[in-house]
Amino acid sequence: MHWRKNQTEDVYYQKAKEDGYRSRAIYKLIEIDDKYKLVKPNSMILDIGSAPGSWSQLVSKRLKSGNCVAVDIHPMTDIANINFICGDIFHEKVLEKALELNQNQKFTLVISDIAPTVSGIKDADVLRSVGMAEELCEICNELLVINGSFLTKVFQGPGFDDFLKLMRRSFKTVRITKPSASRPESREVYVLGQLKR
Ligand SMILES: C[S@@+](CC[C@H](N)C(=O)[O-])C[C@H]1O[C@@H](n2cnc3c(N)ncnc32)[C@H](O)[C@@H]1O
Repeated sequence: MHWRKNQTEDVYYQKAKEDGYRSRAIYKLIEIDDKYKLVKPNSMILDIGSAPGSWSQLVSKRLKSGNCVAVDIHPMTDIANINFICGDIFHEKVLEKALELNQNQKFTLVISDIAPTVSGIKDADVLRSVGMAEELCEICNELLVINGSFLTKVFQGPGFDDFLKLMRRSFKTVRITKPSASRPESREVYVLGQLKR
């Protein structure tokens, strides 16, 4: 009840409803993409943890040519020019399907807003989020082109510094960003790795 009240009073939640977006999360990607120009002509994008679909809505709008594959364990209603797979990104078959829907080419950009189901035990939730981000960074070795970019949500806390080290070994440039739409009380930040080594 308390959460629902906070939600309806939230500026970004209201704005998303007015603008016809599926989630307030879109304003995080808008801010990051405006700053770092991730979505480029001919980008081949993999959107991980895509449901309900606001990041995919932005990609659909900004990607003039190229391709986007979106993956989530939950269903997502159709969005123009987005190839959706309902499945777990950590399953080999889902990765194979993602590549197949990208004409068996590697991606130029992987964006992940993936979040574990939170248990309420803060450190445990951070460890799960960091673990997922690390696994995705490893997956990028297989899925991303050289010089590709990887943007991921991750919670700050135990294990975060080790995750950053892994990112720095994998990418020439690594940035941490906290968009305005990310709630200040949340431990989430977004880490952007560019120019895959
Ligand atoms: C914060 S939501 C993403 C919101 C989305 N970016 C948007 O703009 O609408 C996180 C998503 O991660 C998904 N998720 C969690 N674990 C996953 C996994 N192993 N594979 C694919 N999706 C996963 C959840 O189902 C959830 O929809």
